[in-house]
Amino acid sequence: MTAVRQLSVTREPALWGLVGNTPLLPVQVAGHARGRLWLKAEWLNPGGSVKDRAARAILRDGIARGELPGKRLLDASSGNTGIAYAMLGAAADVRVTICLPGNASPERWALLKVYGAEVVVTDRMDGTEGAARRARELADEAPDKYFYADQYSNTANPRAHRETTGPEIWEQTGGRLTHFVAAMGTTGTMMGSGSFLKERNPAITLVGVQPDSPFHGLEGLKHLPTTAHPPALYDPAVPDKVAEIPTETADRTARWLARASGYLVGWSAGAAVAAALDVMGREPDAQVVVIGCDTGARYISEPHRWAER
Ligand SMILES: Cc1ncc(COP(=O)(O)O)c(C=O)c1O
Repeated sequence: MTAVRQLSVTREPALWGLVGNTPLLPVQVAGHARGRLWLKAEWLNPGGSVKDRAARAILRDGIARGELPGKRLLDASSGNTGIAYAMLGAAADVRVTICLPGNASPERWALLKVYGAEVVVTDRMDGTEGAARRARELADEAPDKYFYADQYSNTANPRAHRETTGPEIWEQTGGRLTHFVAAMGTTGTMMGSGSFLKERNPAITLVGVQPDSPFHGLEGLKHLPTTAHPPALYDPAVPDKVAEIPTETADRTARWLARASGYLVGWSAGAAVAAALDVMGREPDAQVVVIGCDTGARYISEPHRWAER
């Protein structure tokens, strides 16, 4: 009887417990005797990206507020958050609708379908902002049907990083990092982890990473100076510096990581590592932690970007 009762108090699906606690992996950089580069292996999350953390926190919040699983979870996503909602939602009987820009890689669309999500494809020319607009329209049309998660303004997103990513990095480095580098899309990773680390040690330099132009190939990232809708979560005072990385540099760095270290990451992680290498070039003693946002397996349909030049 006791054993049965103990089993029945298991509140969350076992899959949800696999999110987070990712390893911090060393990256060997030639010519750096004192500096160190560490990659937070977010691609090892069960959904293959850092966005599992935000999605789990948003799902928990929706359930706690009584909105889920009664309503469908609705959001716009360039792919990773959508996949995380769909995968974690499948484990908790939460139905999911994702507005996905037509330029998202085919792997993303296919994975959303595999996990049973409804996918509303929006015009590729309108990018993530077009997808967000469509999600808002759907939410306004049928508020009783949808729980509009809105990852760009949902405070559960940065909270996930304040409560998990930031503390993990602090513990894994014994507090010895000098720089924290993260690519910025919703900016949840930077806002949550960055503010946590800064409170622990104000001397840590926070470097936000973004594309160098509004027309870029770094899925999941935003060019903040030109976007019509900056994420509501973004506080420009949090990052000490913002590095703008060209798509070609991000691609080259992702290729280098795969070949030199066996770490297969996507373009946004390539951009973040490129920014970290710039830091190490300027500061030989830097101890840098970079977020490895997602798996490169999600971009295998772009072979020209993986081909050595
Ligand atoms: C591949 C990828 N990298 C980086 C990010 C940025 O993370 P955040 O939204 O926490 O700023 C995202 C967000 O969707 C992403 O999909």
